[in-house]
Amino acid sequence: MRLLIPGGAGYIGSHMVRFAQEAGHEVVVLDNFSTGHRWAVSGSEVLEVDLLDKERLLQSLEGRDFDGVIHFAAKSLVGESVSRPQLYYRNNVVGTLNLVEAMRRIELRNLVFSSTAAIFGNPVEHKISEDHPKNPINPYGRSKLMVESVLEDICTANDFNVTCLRYFNAAGAHPSGEIGEAHDPETHLIPNILKAMTSREKKLAVFGDDYPTPDGTCVRDYIHVNDLAHAHLLSIEYMKNNNGFSVFNLGNGDGFSVLDIINGCQRIARSEILYSIKERREGDPARLVSDSRKAKRELLWKPQYTAIDNILASAWAWHKQ
Ligand code: UFG
Repeated sequence: MRLLIPGGAGYIGSHMVRFAQEAGHEVVVLDNFSTGHRWAVSGSEVLEVDLLDKERLLQSLEGRDFDGVIHFAAKSLVGESVSRPQLYYRNNVVGTLNLVEAMRRIELRNLVFSSTAAIFGNPVEHKISEDHPKNPINPYGRSKLMVESVLEDICTANDFNVTCLRYFNAAGAHPSGEIGEAHDPETHLIPNILKAMTSREKKLAVFGDDYPTPDGTCVRDYIHVNDLAHAHLLSIEYMKNNNGFSVFNLGNGDGFSVLDIINGCQRIARSEILYSIKERREGDPARLVSDSRKAKRELLWKPQYTAIDNILASAWAWHKQ
């Protein structure tokens, strides 16, 4: 297949690019490099375009043909979305609308959209399935839920297919050790733990220990980036026989607290870290754990990294390099 990957230079996007290439597909990356890295997509065809620049976007796609579009280009930090909501609504909502318009102009009709567990807000059920109530508690989650609704309406009104994949917490790195998680500034838990481990003066901040969870710290469902990437390829295949709008939740279905992850990293890296308990971070739900049975049943998705230690070991292998 020939795939267009907006946001392909980012963390999950670059693993998608590599995964698709390894599976024999041809890939074109589209990125504005606001947070993505050129080294993460070296060797791929790259269009340096911002989705907010509609004119340029249309120009760059004119005359091209793709079997599908896998769209990662978005702002994705919960904390930043609370302090800079306009940035999130503009990039995530308007950017996606522009992309869809450009796709329709060149008659592309299959889109995989990066959605998130953040659309659910504070869960009312132990494991979150696709039809769980959606009450996002931060602008990031709200922007992604808005886009899901927009895309559903577009599918209803037109000959257009969308699969929304709602990731829980993406983690780990490519087995080659050539690409991995590298944000600047880094806000995510696992890379921050590994950083604290390798730099003696750095101390990890644990945001809150008074949540209604077994040890008081937030619980998340960590899923390996390569397992996420695989689900996107399966989604493109799925849309060949399933028209219209579909959604899937993607996680391993196991919840780990912040302290569990700290202990896991210490075990994997055989090293101690220093941490201190700080205030809660605004916008963080206490617990997010997925029910991903629908993706397994309908996409035939089968995650390979089901043990948390394998996910942490993969992140550690990348971080050490
Ligand atoms: N945390 C810390 N210290 C840190 C970093 C994080 O205690 O230095 C805590 C957070 O407060 C949270 C947990 O670790 O409780 C996980 O935080 P991350 O920042 O790693 O991930 P989030 O759960 O906030 O968000 C991630 C993605 C979102 C996605 C969400 C879905 O960044 O895009 O997972 O679960 F929506």
